[in-house]
Amino acid sequence: MLRVTVCVSGGGTNLQAIIDRIADGTIRNAQIVQVVCNNPGAFALERAAKAGIPACCVSPKDYPDREAFHEALLAKINEAAPDLIVLAGFMVAVPHQVCAAYAGRIINIHPALIPSFCGKGHYGLHVHEKALERGVKVTGATVHFVDEDLDTGPIILQKAVDIQEDDTPQTLQRRVMEQAEWIILPRAIDLIAQGRVRIEGRRTRILDAAD
Ligand code: GRF
Repeated sequence: MLRVTVCVSGGGTNLQAIIDRIADGTIRNAQIVQVVCNNPGAFALERAAKAGIPACCVSPKDYPDREAFHEALLAKINEAAPDLIVLAGFMVAVPHQVCAAYAGRIINIHPALIPSFCGKGHYGLHVHEKALERGVKVTGATVHFVDEDLDTGPIILQKAVDIQEDDTPQTLQRRVMEQAEWIILPRAIDLIAQGRVRIEGRRTRILDAAD
């Protein structure tokens, strides 16, 4: 059984998608053992409580400096001994301590088709604002492994979403969530739980079920 820690900061709709897909059996052989949040007011914490999942808040405001916060975050994650860490709308740059301790076992959902609209400053609604500003006709979401840089780890899954003429950043964000994020993040977790994702350099290979 794959032990999963989900890190959140906001509404938690991606967390909810994982909870629901585990409940309906779409995600096999995995359980959420912990939710970690950096924002005490996040609705994601209510979603965790409703699902009976142990949750904790590790806020930078509670520590004298960034390093102390990073150490506390690692210690809290280690308490749950996860096999996989899922960043689901987590607005904290993953500290090097966590990257080192969980190398190859951290994944993130990004609301664009990496390498488009990613990297510094590209998070949440800003991603969709930039896609609309650039006039792309297709966007989508990406699930990728997390490495020491921002949005640069090996890509696991991507799903495209058409942009509509009358889209606003808000309508586009919602459609990317519904039609891409909430589908490929659970799918990636299921594939990892089945041992079907292999990292090969800067790429990944999805093994056939029979492999
Ligand atoms: C989503 O758009 C996700 O792609 C991005 O942050 C937002 C978080 O959404 N990383 P939620 O907290 O999962 O609802």
